[in-house]
Amino acid sequence: MSFLEMRDVHKRYGGVVALSGASLAAERGEVHALIGANGSGKSTLNKILTGVVEPDQATIELDGERFTVARPQDAHRHGIAAVYQELSLVKDLSVTANVALAFEQTRFGFLQHRTDRARAAAVLERFRAGFRDHQLPLDARVGSLPPGEQQLVEIAKAVARDPQVLVLDEATASLYSAQVEVVFDAIRELSDAGTLVIFTSHRLGEIYTICDRATVLRSGEVAGAVDLSDVEESTLVELMVGELAGAAESVGQEIADSDVADRQRPVRLRVTSLATDQLDDVSLEVREGEVLGLGGLAGQGQSALLNALFGADRHRSGSVELDGEPVSITRPKQAVGHGIALVPGDRGREGLLPVRPILENLTVPSMRRRARPPGVLSQRREQAAAEDAGRQLAIKYGNLDDGVMTLSGGNQQKVVVGKWLLTEPRVVLLDDPTKGIDVRAKEELYEVIARLTADGVAVLFNSSDDDELLGLSHRIVVFFEGRVVEEIAPQELTRERLVAASLQVVEP
Ligand SMILES: Nc1ncnc2c1ncn2[C@@H]1O[C@H](COP(=O)(O)OP(=O)(O)OP(=O)(O)O)[C@@H](O)[C@H]1O
Ligand SMILES: [Mg+2]
Repeated sequence: MSFLEMRDVHKRYGGVVALSGASLAAERGEVHALIGANGSGKSTLNKILTGVVEPDQATIELDGERFTVARPQDAHRHGIAAVYQELSLVKDLSVTANVALAFEQTRFGFLQHRTDRARAAAVLERFRAGFRDHQLPLDARVGSLPPGEQQLVEIAKAVARDPQVLVLDEATASLYSAQVEVVFDAIRELSDAGTLVIFTSHRLGEIYTICDRATVLRSGEVAGAVDLSDVEESTLVELMVGELAGAAESVGQEIADSDVADRQRPVRLRVTSLATDQLDDVSLEVREGEVLGLGGLAGQGQSALLNALFGADRHRSGSVELDGEPVSITRPKQAVGHGIALVPGDRGREGLLPVRPILENLTVPSMRRRARPPGVLSQRREQAAAEDAGRQLAIKYGNLDDGVMTLSGGNQQKVVVGKWLLTEPRVVLLDDPTKGIDVRAKEELYEVIARLTADGVAVLFNSSDDDELLGLSHRIVVFFEGRVVEEIAPQELTRERLVAASLQVVEP
């Protein structure tokens, strides 16, 4: 009998079967991976364990006791803490105040005790100790922090509960490698003390680094429960997707080999001395069909540049040229008009119309292009366009009229990508676009990027995943404190070079 046993778990959402007879068994002190493709049922299983979702049927035992979780509070009482893909922070409270909320589940009122704040600060100090720069400023409003740091606050809050079981559902998806290391240190500390950690991530490198065993879900059923020291990555992928997937690097190679290194191709986007509140004197060029990677530590200006080019942040000075013509971009609408598309890093806030159907989410930005005669829309054409995007990206949905929030996290991310593809852009700004999407979907997205570049689209690519950044970019410009401090040429694209440039290590 294992410390945690979930058996015969079933869950349907209307007509969609999320879980059919899934199970999971894990021990104290173990870091147990729960993995599978987008929509395979991972979050549903995690949420059943934590009382957020009610199963149609399930047997759950913890520490030899049968237990039923009707509400999240029951899970808290059993020492189960969780971090999901969606954050639960109070944006207007400070970092410390948010973490101190961890201790208030059993108390009334909102007034925080001094001791709670002190405990919260102590936990946060441990997290902060892992960074050399100014991450997690304790008094900052959480809403003012970049997504990765907000995510760290959320993790700190779960860790502060000192749980028996800690569920991390794609908690590292928006984190850069240095941030992931800090989280891994916290995981190791907890598991050494006997906490069971259930860890879900689409980054297989993370799975192999931190997990002991894995339960693999496929279409709501268990495809395998394996000891990770016995199983190679290719086998794991095969268990997840049910067939052997091609190597992601090969697509990257395909893009990298395409002859854009050839300096003859015209410059599509030229940025000269751009300054905003977060950027200082940024100049760069991207040619037709080129993927320009944006490198550096978390939050050094990569996303800020993409937001500025999309007209979401005010330009203080500088100029932008598209295909040789100066353009003024002060609002996203203008950017879209010029053929610039942004796939944002925070899909919840910027990427989706949460209460609208999948169909609308996919088609709204490109509707005008399909109106024929101008101003006249056809439901059939809209439907066909959405289906087309759904096919290209293999989005898993029941019905296009379903609300977009009924999709699994990774499939929501694909909708954000799909809606911009339909606008047939000239310049695509990708802000950590593969966050939360599974291995196969990543390859599909890489294929999409390859297709875009083959069509001459200029791509600016920010990624928290170094391997992906190196694999897909033709060149990388490295940001540090809002400036471009280095450019890594095609023949120099190595991890060592990128890390050194990111840290701005000065050679002796
Ligand atoms: N609230 C909901 N309403 C309707 N369907 C849902 C809801 N939540 C999840 N589903 C569906 O249940 C299935 C499993 O979703 P789940 O979120 O558990 O997947 P997942 O493995 O976590 O995927 P991802 O890797 O994309 O996060 C999916 O087909 C999803 O569309
Ligand atoms: Mg999920």
